Amino acid sequence: MRETEKTYFITTYGCQMNEHDSERLAGMLEAEGYAKADAPGDASLVLFNTCCIRENADNKLYGNLGHMKAIKDVRPDMKLVVGGCLAQKDKAAIQKRAPWVDVVLGTHNLASLPRLLEESNSGPAFEILEQTEVFPSALPSRRNSPWHAWVSISIGCNNSCTFCIVPAVRGNEVSRRLGDIVGEVEELVDDGVVEVTLLGQNVNSYGRDLDGTPMFSRLLRSLDDIEGLERVRFTSPHPKDFRADTIAAMAECDVVCEHIHLPVQAGSDRVLKRMKRAYTRRKYLEKVALVRDAIPDVSISTDIIVGFPGETESEFAETLTLVSEARYDSAYTFQYSPRPMTEAADMDGHLPKEVVQERFERLIRLQDAISLERNLRHVATTQEVIVEGASKKDATRLTGRTRHNKLVHFPSDGARDGSFRTVRITGAHAHYLEGELVEGRRESPRVRRRVSLPLVGAAAPQGRAGC
Ligand code: SAH
Ligand code: SF4
Ligand code: F3S
Repeated sequence: MRETEKTYFITTYGCQMNEHDSERLAGMLEAEGYAKADAPGDASLVLFNTCCIRENADNKLYGNLGHMKAIKDVRPDMKLVVGGCLAQKDKAAIQKRAPWVDVVLGTHNLASLPRLLEESNSGPAFEILEQTEVFPSALPSRRNSPWHAWVSISIGCNNSCTFCIVPAVRGNEVSRRLGDIVGEVEELVDDGVVEVTLLGQNVNSYGRDLDGTPMFSRLLRSLDDIEGLERVRFTSPHPKDFRADTIAAMAECDVVCEHIHLPVQAGSDRVLKRMKRAYTRRKYLEKVALVRDAIPDVSISTDIIVGFPGETESEFAETLTLVSEARYDSAYTFQYSPRPMTEAADMDGHLPKEVVQERFERLIRLQDAISLERNLRHVATTQEVIVEGASKKDATRLTGRTRHNKLVHFPSDGARDGSFRTVRITGAHAHYLEGELVEGRRESPRVRRRVSLPLVGAAAPQGRAGC
């Protein structure tokens, strides 16, 4: 095959970390002379970057690999690569179940892709490591968006939530140096990026492994100084490590969006304890109250698991009352899925599917009603949005995202993706807003706010220049 015919197609499952890893894998393939293909059927290399957070993710991969076998039978020169968390979890089992796969690599060795591809010319190449050798941020990148970038601030996780497989497949927490992160963001801004999302499994413990104290608020304050950077988002803060210094930095740094994703998982203290989340319902709600005091009108979203082993009806009812009290803008709701290498998988009291499904539906009904109520508060206000593309349902409309992380559909003026527009909100639904253009260009997007906060159980905010 000539150099120019090398094309790749990547399918990514799972979370933003995987999206970010896929951009690095694509960057390395392009550095090797591959061009992006429009569909897997056309590509000379097909890569699945996998997730294993819930069981249905496993089934999806093996289904897809079965489908790829038929394509491989017709085009044996096509390279088939499996990477990511499920590869890290299943290790050699992937090659046993799908021996037609050419390359398997895990979460710790993205940088080995070019070498493994080379090795696969003389037979299947398989490598899973237990520790990261090269931080993915050091690898070339092919970003999916010219105006938005994922920026990883730490990899791995040192927590031991009993339902979660992530620590087993992503390893211990390792933070990147603050200067390296700021340097990367500065380069991204020079390249036209206006919004970054900071990634870490527990962003609030960022830096603890570097100098013994969490440095997340310092990082936010450093990013606030970067000229040309308009929006910073981050995911996810763990409620146990979410402290007043971070809330103060969020409130005081104009660049940080008025939205926080604060995964609660459950509303009952007994369930939280069995999950080893290390906070109580009361502590969690206190943090929500602190954020709301510091950042009036802030949007809050969360993750909730329904049907954790042993969850009783009254414990589930506490999740419902917590949702009513917290008044989330939105929630990612999951049915508990037992995962290997996790404590909860061996606990007693796994619940029948129908019980979990019925609870799940009740939770969604409640959250949808609250989401609608939260969205209605925006009606008749004026919001800055960044255009994300044509509306999926109606090509005459554009979709933009507000700082509060709300999608708004509005009549198109032909704006390109990544442009700022100002819209007046004319309608609200549970999952999106509708609006009309107020003016083609925005005014003064970064409005300076200052707050003073009680420093409950927290280190005092660290000083910084310019915020
Ligand atoms: N580090 C992040 C979570 C990453 S996983 C945090 O702690 O916030 C994303 C979400 O998947 C979790 O918040 C949880 O709600 C859900 N999840 C994780 N393991 C799960 C499991 N075994 N079953 C169902 N949902 C799960
Ligand atoms: Fe999983 Fe808990 Fe770590 Fe999040 S904090 S990745 S839920 S172990
Ligand atoms: Fe993310 Fe799934 Fe791995 S949620 S960290 S891709 S297990």
